[in-house]
Amino acid sequence: MIVCHCTNISDHDIRSAIDWMRTSDPYAVITPGKIYHALGKSADCGGCMPLFLDSMRSSDNLEVPMQLRALRTGVTQESADEGRSKGHRISKQISAA
Ligand code: FES
Repeated sequence: MIVCHCTNISDHDIRSAIDWMRTSDPYAVITPGKIYHALGKSADCGGCMPLFLDSMRSSDNLEVPMQLRALRTGVTQESADEGRSKGHRISKQISAA
């Protein structure tokens, strides 16, 4: 089924591009823009975007990689610095001296 009439992209093209991107980079965040780019095309009117996104969601390989899922939980760099004592920070050492 043709999804994007401006660029003649089918739902099969979208799923194939997603499969190819996931195989080449398991950690990739796949977006419609990346799919257009992978297919050597660019969006024109954007009228197909709802159907384009539905076609993307029908792919089993669209899932966000597990390593990137925790980014929404508010894990910051400071909380990710587990095991480091704040006393080892240079700014703390200077103020303590
Ligand atoms: S229908 Fe897809 S960009 Fe126009």
